[in-house]
Amino acid sequence: MKEKLEKIRNEVLAQIQESESLEKLNDVRVLALGKKGLLTELLKGMKEVDPKDRPKVGQMVNEVRAQIEKALESEKQKLEAAVREARLKSEVIDVTLPAAKNKVGHRHPNTIALEEVERIFVGMGYEVVEGPEIEKDYYNFEALNIPKDHPARDEQDTFYVNEEIVLRTQTSPVQVRTMEKGKLPIRMIAPGRVFRSDEVDATHSPSFHQIEGLVIDRHITFADLKGTLAQFARELFGEGTKVKFRPHHFPFTEPSAEVDVSCFKCGGKGCRFCKGSGWIEILGCGMVHPRVLSMSGIDPEEYSGFAFGVGLERIALLKYEIDDMRLLYENDERFLKQF
Ligand code: DAH
Repeated sequence: MKEKLEKIRNEVLAQIQESESLEKLNDVRVLALGKKGLLTELLKGMKEVDPKDRPKVGQMVNEVRAQIEKALESEKQKLEAAVREARLKSEVIDVTLPAAKNKVGHRHPNTIALEEVERIFVGMGYEVVEGPEIEKDYYNFEALNIPKDHPARDEQDTFYVNEEIVLRTQTSPVQVRTMEKGKLPIRMIAPGRVFRSDEVDATHSPSFHQIEGLVIDRHITFADLKGTLAQFARELFGEGTKVKFRPHHFPFTEPSAEVDVSCFKCGGKGCRFCKGSGWIEILGCGMVHPRVLSMSGIDPEEYSGFAFGVGLERIALLKYEIDDMRLLYENDERFLKQF
């Protein structure tokens, strides 16, 4: 009995030493002290021990049990300390390491150009308004003095939703919507998306942006239009920028003009940028046609006004010297992050 006990003790103590994890240590505990463990099994042999030796054997068994329990406890503490140590090591935060850089997005060149244009006109007392992209034929054409059979309808290849509804081909309908509200005077710009059934190439897209401008008050003249757009051009392209008004035709203005600015690259001498002419076309404008005023409920005898329409992409391409409009729509990060 004594030998068996010794053997159990030595084996179990050795196994305790060798256990590398808390799970394995627990296995050893069950093996030694569990209900079906080695010591319990051994005690079943007590029957065969001489009754007068039993207390002594019992004492020996208790001693071995105590020894094993002590060894288990100290090994358990060692293993737990090791686990804690490993966890602390893995959770360490080195506050001196450089921080991971967050990727910050960039504003789109269109957005930068629009904000610039808005800043200039808001500075002159204009309001920024919006109109719907899906528009009534009436606002997009009819009320702008472009009746059903007017050739100007062909120039603006229109996406028709049905007979009466179109995707607006210009921001000019916002002029009509603003005038109809009946609040005068008007000093507004209306930026927004427009649509034309065009093939995609370096200068065309089926969807692009315009900024409409409209001023209505008593005694507004062409001189006001010229002064306003000259100031706009100087603020947008630089102090020395000159403007040139070329006679043109738009159904909703009379007289109408296209406006060129002196090339801000070569100062007007002629270069690759302005195709040798020294001038760059930037917008269309004119005095609001009396018929457009009266269709919107404004008396052309009492009020007059001017309007203009700028292509936003055109401004962005010029200002940032981008030579292909498609770059503005691809949203390639390598392109966008340059602005
Ligand atoms: N709506 C015209 C277009 O898309 C641009 C335009 C020209 C707007 C003259 C105006 C204007 O307000 O007066 O081609």
